[in-house]
Amino acid sequence: MKEDASLPENARFETRAIHVGQDYRSETGAVTPPIYMTSTFEYGNPGGFDYTRSGSPNFRNLQKTLASLEGGEYATVFASGVSAITAVAFSLKAGDTIVSEQNIYGCTYRLFERVLRNFGVTIRYVDLTKVENYSVIRELKPQLVWLESPTNPLLKILDIGAISAVAHEVDATVLVDNTFASSLLQQPLALGADLSLLSTTKYSNGHSDCLGGVVCSNSEVWQEKMIFAQKALGLQPSPFDAWLVSRGLKTESVRMERHCANALELAKRLEKHPRVSLVSYPFLPSNPAYELATRQMKGGSGMLLADFGLSWDEALQFMKKLRLFTQAESLGGVESLVAHPASMTHASIPKAEREAAGVTDGLIRFSVGIEHVEDLWEDLERALHLSQ
Ligand SMILES: Cc1ncc(COP(=O)(O)O)c(C=O)c1O
Repeated sequence: MKEDASLPENARFETRAIHVGQDYRSETGAVTPPIYMTSTFEYGNPGGFDYTRSGSPNFRNLQKTLASLEGGEYATVFASGVSAITAVAFSLKAGDTIVSEQNIYGCTYRLFERVLRNFGVTIRYVDLTKVENYSVIRELKPQLVWLESPTNPLLKILDIGAISAVAHEVDATVLVDNTFASSLLQQPLALGADLSLLSTTKYSNGHSDCLGGVVCSNSEVWQEKMIFAQKALGLQPSPFDAWLVSRGLKTESVRMERHCANALELAKRLEKHPRVSLVSYPFLPSNPAYELATRQMKGGSGMLLADFGLSWDEALQFMKKLRLFTQAESLGGVESLVAHPASMTHASIPKAEREAAGVTDGLIRFSVGIEHVEDLWEDLERALHLSQ
């Protein structure tokens, strides 16, 4: 057995992803932590566990890893990204206000509009890529400012540091949904945000075989609220899913490198394709937000948005012609997926509001996987050819 299993203080992301959170006690020497499939724990155990709704060794291992990778002191894991969103949303009370970026994940919008509003919370949506709209934060003095960057599905890039500075003038808490960027590519807490939320279903796990979510912070107060939400609202994951996310994180850095390289290459080629009227990818030098994106992120991630000038029906037909990209909700897995935001991920947003936010009928969203890039390109070219 190792004489000293402690981690060097300056261990890097790739090393921490594999070694942090692995310090479970075991008499067996198993290199991979077991899955604790138990609902309850004997009273008085040294780990302080009592009941899995409020904690499990698998949550503890994963929380340690995620806190380290997000550069935060605390992390609380949940059953899904939406559970993590629910945990934060339900820490508000009647009379509170959220200022939210206008382009957010459809289910976040649905939770805000169809659930939270009924409890007396006011939500105001603005385009936070426009500096002149920061004044809304100063005027409304919200309790919470809600951001995604890159946004789902438009891949807009928001200046996390600048928005956080304005929000902090009025004591608002800033949450960044970091799902599209991943912990490797963007560190919202270091950029100035108070909370970094991930759907760990996506890049953290990376294999499209479980659901999970997390909220990370450096705030003891928020950590207490999150632990309370986990148990009081029953938002905890299963130990098995937590174990799967822990396993997925060990390869996040190598997966992300390939996601980024493949998506950038496809974006560059699509940009030159005669059928393409719009391609959006944060790390394309022609992207208006390129300078901000490259300052804020270490890579452009694997999400790509394109408009081929197709109608709603033609877009649906185009997706059926693809052989490697599977039409499905979700993103961030090793396999490439394709989605039509207007009818899928953002269908819960009324048409007028969806279009006002820029989510038009012809947009197609790609989650570029880690297959060989030439195979992916051939698939795209072939489908475009067949849908002429
Ligand atoms: C940006 C973003 N946040 C949160 C979620 C919700 O995550 P989950 O599906 O794990 O509940 C998603 C899901 O697609 C997402 O895209």
